[in-house]
Amino acid sequence: MIFVTTSHKPTKEQVLRAKELARELNLPYISRRSFRDLLKIVGNDYCYVVESDRIAVKYQGGSLFFHPSTAKVRMRNVKKGLKDHLIECLQLAGDEWILDTTFGLGAEAILMAGFLKDGKVVGLEASTPIYIVVREGLKNYRDKEDWVNNAMRRIEILNIDFRRYLVSCPDDSFDIVYCDPMFENPVYESSSMNPLRPFAVYDTVTYEDVQEMLRVARRKVVLKAHALDSLFDRIRVDRITGSKKSQVLYGVIEKR
Ligand SMILES: C[S@@+](CC[C@H](N)C(=O)[O-])C[C@H]1O[C@@H](n2cnc3c(N)ncnc32)[C@H](O)[C@@H]1O
Repeated sequence: MIFVTTSHKPTKEQVLRAKELARELNLPYISRRSFRDLLKIVGNDYCYVVESDRIAVKYQGGSLFFHPSTAKVRMRNVKKGLKDHLIECLQLAGDEWILDTTFGLGAEAILMAGFLKDGKVVGLEASTPIYIVVREGLKNYRDKEDWVNNAMRRIEILNIDFRRYLVSCPDDSFDIVYCDPMFENPVYESSSMNPLRPFAVYDTVTYEDVQEMLRVARRKVVLKAHALDSLFDRIRVDRITGSKKSQVLYGVIEKR
């Protein structure tokens, strides 16, 4: 059963937010007082838990919640002078409009937004549970590092399939279009992605999708894939960069 509840001993505000969320998602709201074992009621589904400072999605396998996770590690590495393949591909001036077509938990969107002074990132996420967790996270999460909070303010996220969004976009409406679909060859050691897996949409990015991305991009399209995935066999890009160790590749198509 999919439903909305709160954490134990909720404040009035939490109860109100949980009821509001239940209305928005057209799901039942169940008071936390009315049951003991949350996972027993959840069964093979999941539930939204409105906690004091965030919304988590709980399921038998664990809990999905927002955290800037690898964005911070990657930014720290860039500041130390280490190479970040995505940031290097983008060649940002700082005022770009970036469309992140596969937002996930937004670690890369936050990293990209961390390099913008005037621009913005629009993120698209087809999965509703992921979208809700991230939307609330972007609104309420506060980090000790100011750059993270500033970057989050530059991000707008929408719960929509990128194909539906792209057809509505005029030509050249974003400087960069980024796409990071779920890998065909998952890297389970990448623990920040594991809680997301049961809720993610596993779409295959096609040649036609990339043509649409190129129409909407003014400067370039950047695609991400695992070295063993078929993406870069099916879709020709101008150059590929990435790390041999992690097998994570970024392909860049420059718009001419
Ligand atoms: C690999 S994750 C992205 C991770 C992200 N780059 C990050 O740093 O956290 C891919 C995400 O894209 C979403 N997705 C897959 N197909 C989609 C589509 N057609 N439209 C929008 N989102 C999609 C999945 O649900 C998943 O959350």
